[in-house]
Amino acid sequence: MCGIVGAASGRDVTPILIDGLKRLEYRGYDSAGLAVIDKKCDLVLRRSVGRVASLESICDSVDGSTGIAHTRWATHGKPAEHNAHPHISSQTIAVVHNGIIENHQELREELKEKEFTFRSETDTEVIVHQIDWHTQQGLDLLNAVQITISELSGAYGLGVVSKKEPGVVIAARNGSPLLIGLGEKENFIASDMSALIPVSQKYMVMEDGDIAKITPSSVEVFDRQGNPVERQVIISTLSDDETELEGYAHFMKKEIHEQTRAITETLEDRLGSKSVIEMAFGDEAQEIFDRAKELKIIACGTSYYAASVARYWFEEFGIKCDVEIASEYRYRKHVVNEGTLFMTISQSGETLDTMAALEMAKTLGYSNTLCICNVPESSLVRASDLTIFTHAGREIGVASTKAFTTQLVTLLMVAICLRRRKVGNGRAGDAMEAEIVKELRSLPQMIDNVIDLEEDIISMSKHFGNKEHALFLGRGAHYPIAMEGALKLKEISYIHAEAYAAGELKHGPLALIDEDMPVVAVAPNDELLEKLKSNLEEVRARGGKLFVFADSQAGLISDEETMVLNVAPVNNYIAPVLYVVPLQLLAYHVALIKGTDIDKPRNLAKSVTVE
Ligand code: AGP
Repeated sequence: MCGIVGAASGRDVTPILIDGLKRLEYRGYDSAGLAVIDKKCDLVLRRSVGRVASLESICDSVDGSTGIAHTRWATHGKPAEHNAHPHISSQTIAVVHNGIIENHQELREELKEKEFTFRSETDTEVIVHQIDWHTQQGLDLLNAVQITISELSGAYGLGVVSKKEPGVVIAARNGSPLLIGLGEKENFIASDMSALIPVSQKYMVMEDGDIAKITPSSVEVFDRQGNPVERQVIISTLSDDETELEGYAHFMKKEIHEQTRAITETLEDRLGSKSVIEMAFGDEAQEIFDRAKELKIIACGTSYYAASVARYWFEEFGIKCDVEIASEYRYRKHVVNEGTLFMTISQSGETLDTMAALEMAKTLGYSNTLCICNVPESSLVRASDLTIFTHAGREIGVASTKAFTTQLVTLLMVAICLRRRKVGNGRAGDAMEAEIVKELRSLPQMIDNVIDLEEDIISMSKHFGNKEHALFLGRGAHYPIAMEGALKLKEISYIHAEAYAAGELKHGPLALIDEDMPVVAVAPNDELLEKLKSNLEEVRARGGKLFVFADSQAGLISDEETMVLNVAPVNNYIAPVLYVVPLQLLAYHVALIKGTDIDKPRNLAKSVTVE
């Protein structure tokens, strides 16, 4: 998704801007650009479609100490140089923008009447002309931006420079994350602190409605009413260590293999010998869990599938749990029962739909808000009563893998804590809890064993390279695992993949079965196994080709129509965490055969910060 970097310094900022954009590449984008005020106080603009490397190749001669830069993920107007940011007005003012301006059409008409010429199809271009218009009326840059944002409706993170005020970067935020990085005789802005790792370890988070004036030696922040405000200075914990491929061909593959470590770290200090250590979730956790009689979980994409698996656990433990996609939740009316805990799940902590759902939920009378998140310095974390962190480490591949499995184990630990209140064991665990804890402890080793099946999965993947569609089947908690497997395959291999609860097959999708529609199934040895086997027979009877990940004691064997890969027996609660791993590997190896851009699949972004 779009990324912003800006700098006001005493040195040439071009390399800082380019490096910052490269660090934001993982978010996904289709074009990039920068604007720098050079030594002659001219506004120099460079933009290009494609990778930041191609922007870099046209920036050799750019040298100036104030600038803004952007990676664009197209919303209004196709990916093209003229739509890339920054957008400029009168060769004087430049703007970069994350978010969406909802009243851009009407502003565009007004500005055309004032004889501004539009060169792009973007919603952003109205911002720069509007600022220009206000400076033409005699306002300085800060005041012109202040008035302009009061005329915008929608979401924005903005960086603005003007050649008439060299040394100044104006930043504004409403609904789209923006940070101010503090350096030595230089200051910065960025949509994500990872852009500033080499130049700044201290930062402030801008709040919605804030506008800031940044120079090399000063940072002034004003709230929506224009009052000067202090924002807390935070020391960043980010480092470069996690951003290397370390010999892997892709981050996705590295991240699949890292799941053993990521799960170990997520469980660390939270498991006693026989029980979950509730205190490890923070001082407030006990009271928040005490109040939680029911759950509402909101998330998007893979995080939503994690919530959907967890629903089976919560309800198995007697806790009512409702799970919903954030973008739908936001636009419905809600009846909130007393004692309902509102939970969000997000790898990035910046997903706009999830964040907006949380803001809405806070007005609806939920008992508390709890967030399960992987990024400590993120918007969701700041906005929630309590956060339980997944310790997956930085996830760079757009297709989420280790974030998902660490979300699952975190959710299982939360489910165990809430279960205690239901079974009346106070803070102590019982035999069943001890059993799950024991299995959780052996999960990293079991995942390693599944990863050892990679050669067999590579053989299996060869059957998918020339296919256009695939069907994924699962039952119970493995239905959302099938959905996650299908999402992985479609995201990175561009094969159309759909997941069905296996029992639903006969109600329609069976019509699709033929030898060109591979059917992938997950078959753990649980109480639904026999039902699932019947569903698989329905596929075989219609000439379908089956690819099954099955418990070694499930009694499923390979033949001409069916390829079975055996997974060691595993406890039913832990099984979904284990069974998703071969599906991740299958998607990865199919994508490898298809030669797609695995870590940055087309049209997708790592962190989805627009609606
Ligand atoms: C998963 O592979 C995705 N790329 C996507 O569905 C993602 O899970 C979703 O956008 C939610 O992101 P979040 O967890 O950062 O909120």
